[in-house]
Amino acid sequence: MIADQIKAVIRDIPDFPKPGIIFKDITPILKEPKLCEDIVDAFIGQLQGTRVDVVAGVESRGFLFGLTLANKLGVPFVPVRKAGKLPYSVKQKVYELEYGSATIELHTDAFEPGQHVLIHDDLLATGGTVTAASELIHEMGGVVAGYSFVVGLNFLNGKEKITPVSDNIIVLAEY
Ligand code: PRP
Ligand code: MG
Repeated sequence: MIADQIKAVIRDIPDFPKPGIIFKDITPILKEPKLCEDIVDAFIGQLQGTRVDVVAGVESRGFLFGLTLANKLGVPFVPVRKAGKLPYSVKQKVYELEYGSATIELHTDAFEPGQHVLIHDDLLATGGTVTAASELIHEMGGVVAGYSFVVGLNFLNGKEKITPVSDNIIVLAEY
């Protein structure tokens, strides 16, 4: 099963980036081309029946599989980036973090109103990042087709947070 394959390779890093956090390091996955291919194929399998016009990958780790997924689906990939990185005209969304706030941006021509946008990221934790992305996509007239993640940390209740926008949530390996 893909979940077992992913979990066998992911590395737990205690106390990163701060004491008390056990960081799920996905970089060992990237060293295994066959597993990377299997991950994208698992997403494609679970997206059968879902209309996806565009894949939006969230900076930075959402770029890793997001582009390959979009390529294999045969649809455009658009980057959701942190503020100040995208060169063309942008639309912004400010969202709250545990301490302070963050800003994400999309190019204003990322997709057309009415298009169905799949939000992809490597990991679902609290769901704050992809909630901001979904709000930005709505404000630009898009439809959130669903979400895809390689890893989900269920104890942080991200699924509950994002379900009201779309319950089409793909998580390949859950903890
Ligand atoms: C991590 C992860 C997700 C997000 C999940 O990204 O890659 O994007 O946090 O957290 P949330 O569900 O609580 O919003 P990070 O901000 O560490 O940046 P990176 O992807 O650039 O490493
Ligand atoms: Mg990230």
